Amino acid sequence: MNRRLLMFFVFIVSATCLSAKEGMWIPTLLQKYNIEEMSQMGFKLSAADIYDVNHASMKDAVVSFGGGCTGGVISNDGLLITNHHCGYGEIQNHSSVEHDYLTNGFWAMNKSEELPNPMLTVQFLVKMEDVTDKIMTDVKDSLTQGGRLDLIQRNTSEVIKEYISGTGYSAQVKPLFNGNQYFVYVYETFRDVRLVGAPPSAIGKFGGDTDNWVWPRHTGDFSLFRIYADKNNKPAKYSPNNVPYHPKKFFPINLKSLKEGDFTMVFGYPGTTQRYIPSQAVNLIANQSDPAKVAIRTAKLDILNTMMNSSAKIRIQYAGKYASTSNSWKKWQGEVKGLQRLDAVNLKKSGELEFTKWVNENPDRIKKYGTILSDFEKLYGEYLPYQSVNDYYTECVQRSTDIFSLASRIEPIEVAGKDDLRKMEIKKVKDFLVDYLKDYDKTTDGKVWSALMQIYLEKVDHRFLPEKLLKQLPKISNIQVLTTIYNKSLLSDSLKIKKLVENFGARSIKELQKDQAYSMYKMISQQFKAKVDFPFRDIFAKIGAVQKKYTAALMEMNAGKRMMADANSTLRVAYGRVEGYKPVDGVTFKYFTTIKGVIEKDNPAIYDYNVPEALRKIYRTHDFGQYVNDTGEVPVAFCASNHTTGGNSGSPVVNANGELIGLNFDRGWEGTMSDIVYDPDVCRNISLDMHYALFIIDKFAGAGYLLKEMEIVK
Ligand code: ARG
Ligand code: GLU
Repeated sequence: MNRRLLMFFVFIVSATCLSAKEGMWIPTLLQKYNIEEMSQMGFKLSAADIYDVNHASMKDAVVSFGGGCTGGVISNDGLLITNHHCGYGEIQNHSSVEHDYLTNGFWAMNKSEELPNPMLTVQFLVKMEDVTDKIMTDVKDSLTQGGRLDLIQRNTSEVIKEYISGTGYSAQVKPLFNGNQYFVYVYETFRDVRLVGAPPSAIGKFGGDTDNWVWPRHTGDFSLFRIYADKNNKPAKYSPNNVPYHPKKFFPINLKSLKEGDFTMVFGYPGTTQRYIPSQAVNLIANQSDPAKVAIRTAKLDILNTMMNSSAKIRIQYAGKYASTSNSWKKWQGEVKGLQRLDAVNLKKSGELEFTKWVNENPDRIKKYGTILSDFEKLYGEYLPYQSVNDYYTECVQRSTDIFSLASRIEPIEVAGKDDLRKMEIKKVKDFLVDYLKDYDKTTDGKVWSALMQIYLEKVDHRFLPEKLLKQLPKISNIQVLTTIYNKSLLSDSLKIKKLVENFGARSIKELQKDQAYSMYKMISQQFKAKVDFPFRDIFAKIGAVQKKYTAALMEMNAGKRMMADANSTLRVAYGRVEGYKPVDGVTFKYFTTIKGVIEKDNPAIYDYNVPEALRKIYRTHDFGQYVNDTGEVPVAFCASNHTTGGNSGSPVVNANGELIGLNFDRGWEGTMSDIVYDPDVCRNISLDMHYALFIIDKFAGAGYLLKEMEIVK
């Protein structure tokens, strides 16, 4: 290698070492793998300050929020901060046209005004441990695949029993490194979590879906909740007698100005990454699966958009459905772009070439790992068509329209053999109908349903379509015909459906069987179960077994080096620095935005950019109090090089002293492929700056009383 080239590599290695970092690290292994590097980067605390089972540590101030997000405790009275988009379902639930908290925000002015949320839970991690040996006890290579899985299942139940007996906790065993290790996670779950405050969407969702996944950003993406407990500070179901929970630890909030290069750490629950998948899988995602799903959702979102703009009621009813449909839709587009830009398929292929070279160096390796890559090639070849139908099925049929989501719940009533079973299913649907009907609009869902059915009938390989529907093609694959079927269906008639469920009897079954939309649901789902589901799962399991072996081989190949475990919705630490980036040639992004940018974007004619008048007014007077940074403006958001993914929303972002400086809520557009391939140059997480959160609470909402229970460091 010539000297210049060598210099270049030395430079890359040292430069990337000191800044952007791939990795979502395991809290119990920080001491071994990370703390030295973290300290070099400026972190001032110890691994035990982050995770400790014997003393209060940061982990005692982090919760898994509602199963899909993260939150951080910020007061000794159980005050909890998470994203606005994480509390969105609850805020929507409490909203009506008369009390539209989505539009106007909500602020409890004292504890008695806080709103209970019966469906919401938060979990604290009590402890986690490596239980690989226990789970793998007697699991021998000589067993069949089924036998291995059964034994793993039995060992898992034993471990869970052992870890929770007599505690009131719950536990979960999860595989790491694609099944090469197992960890147990013990949780304490709180069930009385009340809404304390939420800014209006024009702040909490400012920039809406236009700015989503994009830096620079000006979204005040936070909401406040409070955890309640019984008199002994233990979890309890909602009761007016419950009292605020006193946590073992809560985060102090730091209001100093952030500097580029400052150490940051994100502590939360990242959902899924796929760091070790082969080139075939990347190809499948970038060239088949993501594009197909994006096209389907484009059709759905266009309809929802038009309908939601036509009525305030529909806008509230479909707010949550729209947000979640649009969120992945946009992410997949960024992911495809990023994978293409990095030429990820070929990048994986060259890694696989290295791997083959390593395997071929040694006969033992050839015996153990020699067929991995050809197995992948064969299995992914078989998998492709099934993955395709599965994508169409999940996007067009399975709970993607209101009436099909209803049909999937009514079917168990219809097929229930025994009376008591039927009664149970009826009760479930009755409960389900309450929220369902509140958020159901016949015209909107009818348009979505017809459009998605047409796509399904046209795009799905004919061998996977029910014969009866196949015979009716192409006549039935027509919007007018489908709309008629929809409008005639009793599933689309709120009154009839309520009656049917309330007086369910033999006649109801006949009625259902005559209903064309309902029978389409049954035909399509039965065909899917019969022709797709089994082979799809079967091949997927075989791919999983090869993936496990491949990951084991990669671990052997990289022995002594640190490897990240893929995210699996368990508590992880990511660390990096506050830093901007260069998204494209000629452009450099700064690392923070301010309220000035909110006002620059202000445009009353565009829903996503319509700044509330009260905020404009504060801006005109520059009444910013203690919430400014060095620029004299209120900082709104910052970007940093922490490796994060979906589920990390609401994760506390702390500084070198473990003080809260932000709340993670997104990734930058150029880095959305980081679940699959990480690019340190452009992968950035986006966080709300705590200055803005406190400014909104205090100056905008007039709920400054809440700051009294926080610990603020200046
Ligand atoms: N993109 C962020 C995440 O993945 C935020 C989504 C919510 N915001 C929105 N405009 N839909 O969840
Ligand atoms: N908004 C995402 C969430 O809800 C976090 C962004 C990401 O995927 O990194 O978890």
